[in-house]
Amino acid sequence: MYSWALITGDAAETVDARQLRQALGAFPTGVCLVTTTTPDGKREGMTINSFASVSLDPPLILWSIRDDTRSADAFLAARPFNLSVLTAGQRDLAGHFARPAADKFERFAEAFEVAPNGCARLVESVATFECSTYSRHQEGDHTIILGRVDRFSRTDAPPLLFHSGQMGSLWELAETLARPQGGGG
Ligand SMILES: Cc1cc2nc3c(=O)[nH]c(=O)nc-3n(C[C@H](O)[C@H](O)[C@H](O)COP(=O)(O)O)c2cc1C
Repeated sequence: MYSWALITGDAAETVDARQLRQALGAFPTGVCLVTTTTPDGKREGMTINSFASVSLDPPLILWSIRDDTRSADAFLAARPFNLSVLTAGQRDLAGHFARPAADKFERFAEAFEVAPNGCARLVESVATFECSTYSRHQEGDHTIILGRVDRFSRTDAPPLLFHSGQMGSLWELAETLARPQGGGG
């Protein structure tokens, strides 16, 4: 079992994984939905925030998946997937796809269409990247999945954001943060 050290001033104390997770969660991100379809036609989808852009030539993006998550087998096979950056209005959808369920798509049937790569695609999003799995890198308890972007779309819709366990629009999250005191221009 790994042990983590929290450094405050000159002292370091051993802490649990929860505190490391809290420190990592202090980095604000957008929220995305990834979808794929298994060879027997089952749709899978999950909420993620590990998305990053990697390369323009070739066009590559990445995200990482926890290896013991229910849908890992579907995403860890080399096959197409779609990744959408969620809008501020899609908080319920993000929460729903962050919980295991037999068919997550049923409740949001109207929100999806089928993309040319055969995977579910959100009708509305800030941006959507239709990808082919380019490579996978198993590291620790996660696998980094790189996708080659085959097609993409973008809009000017405001994004859904995630910070310190809170999901919301920029304006909603700004209200929960303490205003910085003095300095900083
Ligand atoms: C904001 C947010 C970001 C998340 N990011 C990731 C991620 O990058 N990778 C991951 O494996 N799980 C992530 N999760 C957790 C998954 O959404 C969750 O484990 C989900 O149940 C996985 O789907 P499954 O149970 O159908 O496999 C995130 C959850 C939330 C709320």
